[in-house]
Amino acid sequence: MLETTATPNSTNDWPQRAQTVFPGGSLGEYHLPPEMATVLTHGQGAKVYDTAEREYVDYTMGWGSLLLGHAHEAVVTAVTRQAALGSNFAYVSQPAVDLAEEMVRAIPCAEKARFCASGTEAAMYAVRFARAFTGRGKIIKFEGAYHGANEFGSMSLFPQKLLDFPQAEPTSAGIPPTVAADVLIAPYNDLETTEMILRRYADEIAAVIVEPLHRCTSPRPGFLAGLRRIAWENDVLLIFDEVVTGFRLAYGGAQAYYDVTPDLAAYGKGLGGGYSIGAVAGRADILDLCDEARLGQPDYVWFASSVGGNPVTAVAALATLKELRQPGTYDRFFAIGQKLRDGLTDILDELNIKAQVLGEGPLCAVSFTDQPVTDYRSAHRADSAKSRAFALGLFERGIFLNPMSTKLYVSLAHSDEDIERMHRAAFQCLKEISNP
Ligand SMILES: Cc1ncc(COP(=O)(O)O)c(C=O)c1O
Repeated sequence: MLETTATPNSTNDWPQRAQTVFPGGSLGEYHLPPEMATVLTHGQGAKVYDTAEREYVDYTMGWGSLLLGHAHEAVVTAVTRQAALGSNFAYVSQPAVDLAEEMVRAIPCAEKARFCASGTEAAMYAVRFARAFTGRGKIIKFEGAYHGANEFGSMSLFPQKLLDFPQAEPTSAGIPPTVAADVLIAPYNDLETTEMILRRYADEIAAVIVEPLHRCTSPRPGFLAGLRRIAWENDVLLIFDEVVTGFRLAYGGAQAYYDVTPDLAAYGKGLGGGYSIGAVAGRADILDLCDEARLGQPDYVWFASSVGGNPVTAVAALATLKELRQPGTYDRFFAIGQKLRDGLTDILDELNIKAQVLGEGPLCAVSFTDQPVTDYRSAHRADSAKSRAFALGLFERGIFLNPMSTKLYVSLAHSDEDIERMHRAAFQCLKEISNP
């Protein structure tokens, strides 16, 4: 185990120590019951290990930030080498240029890019660019979509009141009501309602922002192309939040996978190979608004970060992308994701449980409803108590996941045996749920 900074008074009860210093004992989300709380020591490949020396197969993979798995040799080597050469200059470095060039090559909408440190910031900056470019303040966001912990990303994230569209319901306290007034909420996969909202407020709307794969709900055929069309027709920008889908559904992300090109896209998570990253990529005429030569002009966009584009993250990203460019990578991602989903579907059928398996590529979620899941409201009707029992049951059986989210992430490090271990755990715990 690694050396830690334990004080003479500290105990080995790590979960208790975490509970004392962190609200809810966590870094955010998770929300495990106290008896299940745990503290991790290390990760390798598809596994993580805790202070009680338990091994888990990891199905969160740093919430999707580790496409290659934990401590991948190529990433560790690149980071170690760079750390000795300087970890941060808050200035353009060779690895940052290499990375931005690779993004411009890979991402259909990318003519230019700028880095920040998280997906939360990237989505926030993308919306800021859209507001500056159009001179308008409102955006359309889809109900239940997550665009980070920024002010608009927390609007109608887990709404409970299910207000009439396009009213927004804040999921977090501490956000001024003026923010809600500028966020128009639309139902995902419902182009007609989205278009109605867009036409009604067209003069005030800067952009439509969408997770192309909404959580784990797939777009209906034509939905994303329809968004592209109505955005053009109404002279508003289309932003893809590719924080999850970027370099995951395809090397070119969701825009390559679904063949729809937005004006701007936000990146984070998997791009950084487990290191803090965020990026906005898109049209040069929009990105150029943050050129510092424009400071003082009314449409100048302030975009700066002490650690954004740092060379350690950049080499981690470059090493990750190099691995992802190997032949067969995406076939493997899709095969392993399919194996995970097929096995879970078979188990649900065998046990006659009203549930379905969602997801595409290396993403998967189980929703405890037999009704079609197309948007937040249909997902919201699923049995959330069963969903939590399933997540906690898996956790108890050595599957590391976030019990507040239904999304399961697989990486290239997951073996067929790791998937089978998940299936065995799922069978046992779904059997218990179906026969309490
Ligand atoms: C689609 C999407 N956008 C943005 C974010 C925020 O990214 P970060 O956690 O890096 O701030 C997330 C995080 O889960 C996400 O799923």
